[in-house]
Amino acid sequence: MTSLFVPPKPRPLPQKASVWQRLSIGLRSGLSLFLGGSYTDLGVGRHRVPTLPYFRMRELFTVRDPDLIREVLVRRSEEFPKSGLMDEMLHELIGYSIFVSNGEVWKRQRRIIDPALEGARVKEVFQRMADAVEACVARFEAHADRADSTTAPIDVDIEMTHFTADVIFRTIFSEAMTAEGARRIFAAFEVFQHVAYAHGMLRLTNFPVNLLPGSGRARRAAREIREVLKGPIDRRLALVARGEEPPRDILYSLMTTPDPVSGTCFDADELLDQVSMLFLAGHETSAAGLAWTLYLIASCQHIQDRMRDEADRILEDRPPAFGDMKKLELTRDAFREGLRLYPPVPFVGRDATRTERMKTRDVKEGDIVFVAPWLMHRHQKLWAQPDAFDPDRFSSDEARESIRCAYLPFSMGPRVCPGAAFALQEATLVLAELVRRFRISPTPGHAPDPIARLTLRSSNGVPLIVTRR
Ligand code: HEM
Repeated sequence: MTSLFVPPKPRPLPQKASVWQRLSIGLRSGLSLFLGGSYTDLGVGRHRVPTLPYFRMRELFTVRDPDLIREVLVRRSEEFPKSGLMDEMLHELIGYSIFVSNGEVWKRQRRIIDPALEGARVKEVFQRMADAVEACVARFEAHADRADSTTAPIDVDIEMTHFTADVIFRTIFSEAMTAEGARRIFAAFEVFQHVAYAHGMLRLTNFPVNLLPGSGRARRAAREIREVLKGPIDRRLALVARGEEPPRDILYSLMTTPDPVSGTCFDADELLDQVSMLFLAGHETSAAGLAWTLYLIASCQHIQDRMRDEADRILEDRPPAFGDMKKLELTRDAFREGLRLYPPVPFVGRDATRTERMKTRDVKEGDIVFVAPWLMHRHQKLWAQPDAFDPDRFSSDEARESIRCAYLPFSMGPRVCPGAAFALQEATLVLAELVRRFRISPTPGHAPDPIARLTLRSSNGVPLIVTRR
């Protein structure tokens, strides 16, 4: 029997870490902060952050009990609204859109957005996703045909970001992403992601982040991204004004679906906020999950070989069709396992709206309560071999209970990710096409270093060697 591959995970913060250690590690990545001893604990963790001006400690909590997680995210979700911290971090880019809003505003937004991402719509945009896959394969081919391809790696986290951003463009706007748009967006998003995350951490300490020079840079970066995204919206509005027939894509659904309760549609400003949010939520997460999955299958050639056999058997020599997706079971399970080991959203935050006792902790109104897919997915009491890469667990009976109670890469409850089916479809499609045409191997001597900012990425990239099959 082949032994299972155990990929890297960050070291937890030492038990006796100083305030400065905590601060500097926290500003680099949120992950280690939450970890000490927590892979075995089923209670509620408490973390203390010093606040200005008197260094009084602020308490944050992490719920690690599956039943209590359901309480927070599902049964009493209205009492645990999305944390205001997320709105503060992301407002410049996505306004008060569905990812950060709460209450009646969120309910209306969700009623309009759900139909844009429902199963039938995801089926409708299949061909546009397939076109983005072809463009991605062409970029890989160009690289694989270079004389130095056996030694010069592709940075797949950059490639997958390009791919998923292109998918979002093609499925929302029915337009491919231009090279110029890609360049502007990636440069600006890099700045925004770094500053938004670090400022979010500093906000926890009451630090006046608006005085920092990074604030201006983040504002300019958010404006730049919104400007690129506004182009296709303006073109669509002009097309409709000319009386021409618009394509039936996600933008069409967002523009024409009225809220069944109030009868209102999104106005132009709301539309730009929601499209910016879909761009952020829809490309960054999928790109992170895909880059980690490619690293895992590069490190496990026997799994990659089985995926290649599956793709050959099901797709034969023809382009993939929508009906193939559910048959590519191992490919989908490899991605699901990638999301388990490296959940792109490693923790979600909720604000407590009343003071209450949670297990052994006193949580006060206004405290932030975290649920961490990262922890639950690797919990030693909830999974067999939690740190090992094993896509077959998704088809085994033994893991059924673990998956039911401790697998939540898309969160759960009323705020569950509405893009889950979309993400699984694009991931299955691109992974099947990549393994069927290329052999993907790790770069000798390189191990990616997981860090959590807005999403879970590798601080030193994910370089992989890609050669033609
Ligand atoms: C592997 C890919 C993805 C992962 C792991 C993921 C994960 C998540 C998670 C964990 C949340 C909940 C966050 C929270 O409760 O604080 C969320 C929300 C959301 N996601 Fe995704 N997502 C992915 C892809 C997508 C895609 C492709 C789209 C759209 C095209 C999308 C759209 C959204 C939206 C609109 C929300 C906000 C829902 C609400 O608050 O009501 N996501 N996602």
